[in-house]
Amino acid sequence: MCVKHSIRNLQVKFLTYALGGADDYFGKDPTISHRRLHNEKGLRVEHFYAVVGHLQATLRELGVAEVSW
Ligand code: HEM
Repeated sequence: MCVKHSIRNLQVKFLTYALGGADDYFGKDPTISHRRLHNEKGLRVEHFYAVVGHLQATLRELGVAEVSW
């Protein structure tokens, strides 16, 4: 995997956007990236919600203030 698409780099882009920063992800459409996992491995929307839930719990644990969008 090249640096541009490393997990770390993708996480930085995701967290930047999720926390209100720049949306500069121009990579593969995540719908396409996850299609095989959806079709063959049972990946569902609740798994994505689980990721978001873990992120929210971590931010709360770290004392990050909540904002309403
Ligand atoms: C908010 C949650 C998630 C986000 C934002 C996200 C985002 C992405 C993105 C952008 C890619 C494409 C990377 C690239 O092609 O350069 C990707 C690929 C992938 N994701 Fe996720 N993802 C999430 C959740 C998950 C979950 C829950 C799983 C499995 C449990 C998963 C497994 C994978 C795998 C295996 C790939 C590589 C697919 C391939 O190239 O064959 N992701 N994800």
